[in-house]
Amino acid sequence: MVQILVDNNIIEAEDGANLLQTCLENGIYIPNLCYINDSQDPFAACRLCFVEIDGKPVAACTQKVTQGLRVQTDTPAVRGLQKSAFLFLLSVHDIKCKECPANKRCELQRIAKFLKVGLKPKGLEIRLKDPGLDSGHPYLLVDLNRCVLCGKCVQVCRQKHGQSFLTFAKRGFNTVISAYTEPDDIPLNFSGCTACIDICPVMAISLKDGIKS
Ligand code: FES
Repeated sequence: MVQILVDNNIIEAEDGANLLQTCLENGIYIPNLCYINDSQDPFAACRLCFVEIDGKPVAACTQKVTQGLRVQTDTPAVRGLQKSAFLFLLSVHDIKCKECPANKRCELQRIAKFLKVGLKPKGLEIRLKDPGLDSGHPYLLVDLNRCVLCGKCVQVCRQKHGQSFLTFAKRGFNTVISAYTEPDDIPLNFSGCTACIDICPVMAISLKDGIKS
């Protein structure tokens, strides 16, 4: 075990443990959307989990714990970076909380509250995808304007099936989570799996009407 200092709290952890997970497990919340516990190869896609180490910004999910590490999670610079990343997510998100199945258990709502950022900031230009719904998969629906591109669905699918049947497609603003649609691409044991639905922090993936898990 090693000791680290996080915001003046001494924390004990395994040498080499993931810093984000260590902080979360010790009751120190750091905004995050894309990290899956015990991940060996974090995606670091959401850019929300910034902390400061020796005055430099570091994505906590990419940092290993080492003896004597000194971490600050609540400096103006850290909050500034987190808010910028969060505002970017909001600018491409279809905010309709009352109609959304994730209402009250949505990670965006939690992060907005934590960062004290309204979900509809004044003056924020919103750019949504059109069409906003991908129904190309035999049984999954992906709401592209709800999706935050955290990639958790891609990661969990790979963990469960050895390869992922979901992937990032296109580039830049047009990047989407896409499902392979050829029937031959979908293994028999995939049809009942809802791991991607269960792990989505904003409920952007759902089963099509009439499909049972
Ligand atoms: S949790 Fe670290 S970049 Fe998303």
